[in-house]
Amino acid sequence: MNKVGKFVIEGGRKLYGSARVSGAKNAAVGILSAAIMCDDGTCTIDNLPDIDDVKTLIGIIRQMGANVTETDRGTVVIDSSGVKSNKALFDELKSMRGSYYLLGALLGKFGQAEIIYPGGCNIGVRPIDQHIKGFQALGAEVITEHGVIKASADKLVGGPIYFDIVSVGATINIMLAACKAEGVTTIDNAAKEPHVVDVANFLNSMGANIKGAGTDMIRIKGVKELHGCTYSVIPDQIEAGTFMIAAAAAGGDVTLLNVIPKHLESVTAKLEEMGAEIIEESDTLRIKCDCRPKAINLKTLPYPGFPTDLQQPMTSILSIAEGRSIVTEGIFEGRFKHVDELKRMGANIKVEGRVAIIDGIKKLSGASVSATDLRAGAALIIAGIIAEG
Ligand code: EPU
Repeated sequence: MNKVGKFVIEGGRKLYGSARVSGAKNAAVGILSAAIMCDDGTCTIDNLPDIDDVKTLIGIIRQMGANVTETDRGTVVIDSSGVKSNKALFDELKSMRGSYYLLGALLGKFGQAEIIYPGGCNIGVRPIDQHIKGFQALGAEVITEHGVIKASADKLVGGPIYFDIVSVGATINIMLAACKAEGVTTIDNAAKEPHVVDVANFLNSMGANIKGAGTDMIRIKGVKELHGCTYSVIPDQIEAGTFMIAAAAAGGDVTLLNVIPKHLESVTAKLEEMGAEIIEESDTLRIKCDCRPKAINLKTLPYPGFPTDLQQPMTSILSIAEGRSIVTEGIFEGRFKHVDELKRMGANIKVEGRVAIIDGIKKLSGASVSATDLRAGAALIIAGIIAEG
């Protein structure tokens, strides 16, 4: 986060009404990168979220030679026939994490790729050793020098890959690189997040042959060519979860439109445990809450476990829950930076390593606070909504 934005929130009101959830950020960045691999025709992608990462990536793809036309709000048509270079050496790439998908996409397209080392939110050490291990298993040589990652192969050849840890980024990056490799690639211990499945579905719509996305074993049979397609990005599970937590924290009655309730089961389960009422329909979720939330214990895990991206918003609601909650961050070791800010608002939270012990207080009080990263910002907005003043 390098932009300065400011919100002034008058807290203490319940939330009523409905909100439409945007397309998924972490699927969109994978899909936009995948679109540059198209060999024939154009890709029409809709339900893209209106966020900086998407705008930045579209700007970069344009600079790489793609013709991107915005035909409607959230819809673009991408013609990648002008993408002739295997390099993405633009400083803007440092502002986002998802830029690493250009490495897999360019490597898959040209057998060679050079990109600026990715940036993203400061939530702990974020190595990319599993991405590199996967590219190497496909026959690529990978080096990092002067802030640039370079990957090259005479020919990419599929093979078995076992990830030592479950990584969303590495799983998607290897799917991108492998979908035009010779032969079959298998990814064992793959990430199962909805956005992994969405990128696989997009690649399959382009003619790729990917099976098993959504399980821990993905099988990719290389194809010669990828063609254009029309595709709609799935709704953002994390944005929906953030609104659900906000509604449960503030109390009231909120309906979320354009959601896939199945993707939110871990959040629904936890909010119900806290006393909220959640009513699911095919693509809507209604959240009702009229009492003080109860304390719970929570551990973040890869999907279908509770998502790390919602740990920070959860900390905000738990800071006013009745009783003691224990929150364990299982994915990123530096994701409790928002806690010091919540303390300015009166929260009683003690952090020991990856564990936060939260003794709920009755009310937070308004204060001037700063967001250290994207989801910390969401957490602090929720805190502002429920605070006095
Ligand atoms: N990891 C490694 N080596 C690797 C890759 C990951 O050790 O090569 C570790 C990470 O350090 C972390 C764990 O594995 O401890 C999981 O990382 P993962 O690769 O799954 O995360 P990511 O790809 O860097 C994506 C999202 C994050 C989200 C995580 C977890 C994108 C662009 N980013 O990051 O989103 O928190 O998965 O679900 O998809 C956000 O949206 O605010 C955000 C940070």
